[in-house]
Amino acid sequence: MRKVGIIGCGAIGTVIAKAVERGIVECDELVLYDRNMEKAEKLKKSLHFPVTVVKSLEELIKLKPLVIVEAASQQAVRDYVNKILAENIELIVMSVGALLDLDVKSKKIHIPSGAIGGLDAISSAALAGIDEVILTSRKNPEALEMDNQEEKIVYEGTAEEAVRLFPRGMNVAATLALTTQPEKVKVKIISDPKVHRNVHEIRIKWKHGDMFLKFENDPHPENPKTSALAAWSAINLLKQTLKKVHNKSMT
Ligand SMILES: NC(=O)c1ccc[n+]([C@@H]2O[C@H](COP(=O)([O-])OP(=O)(O)OC[C@H]3O[C@@H](n4cnc5c(N)ncnc54)[C@H](O)[C@@H]3O)[C@@H](O)[C@H]2O)c1
Repeated sequence: MRKVGIIGCGAIGTVIAKAVERGIVECDELVLYDRNMEKAEKLKKSLHFPVTVVKSLEELIKLKPLVIVEAASQQAVRDYVNKILAENIELIVMSVGALLDLDVKSKKIHIPSGAIGGLDAISSAALAGIDEVILTSRKNPEALEMDNQEEKIVYEGTAEEAVRLFPRGMNVAATLALTTQPEKVKVKIISDPKVHRNVHEIRIKWKHGDMFLKFENDPHPENPKTSALAAWSAINLLKQTLKKVHNKSMT
């Protein structure tokens, strides 16, 4: 039985559940948990697919999903990660910022590339030695809960501090910090009324060359802080992880 648990039925949780319904992920049943039960019930109602809504993480774990996707908040990761790992369940973490200061290491934790990509090349370069990673994120003021009329630099500093100050909007900085080393990543956040996409530019100087990556992502219509690509990266990772665990359980 390919059962998947989703914690958080907001923008990302909904896109994932809809992809499962469309058969993009080979799954037999979804178990939904949101601390706001109405959101889980509403999502269940919108799906023509076997779905169970649960009231707590404990109930979710009891139903023994093969994989759980956390699409809730950094606090949810802090509160739930050890309980999920203790049950040997694979966990896909969207709120990656939480992992920067949590001391958990497990092969069962999977981190999606999120709103960016190229992590294969970046992690390869990190093995040889990275001098610096510079992330410039340019977002519409709405995505930063601001209302400036002119372009404005909102933050310049380290990835760790950026994640602390913008816990819901700086997952990209956290992903880069986890792929390289937190102290190597410098972050600049720009609130720009001229852009209507979440734009991430990543410049990397490493031992044997330079890299430049740019992503221009449509924001999710219900949550402008979240890029559509982030949800699709979770779907892609869920598809691969579920297949791997299911095949293993069949041998
Ligand atoms: N890795 C990435 O690149 C990336 C990109 C975008 C968003 N994210 C992160 O993914 C998470 C979800 O994003 P979203 O846009 O779907 O958010 P959202 O606000 O649209 O939905 C989050 C849902 O989770 C629920 N929730 C929050 N805390 C909970 C808890 N402790 N237990 C159970 N339910 C809880 C909320 O009620 C809400 O329904 C956020 O933490 C966000 O920062 C990561």
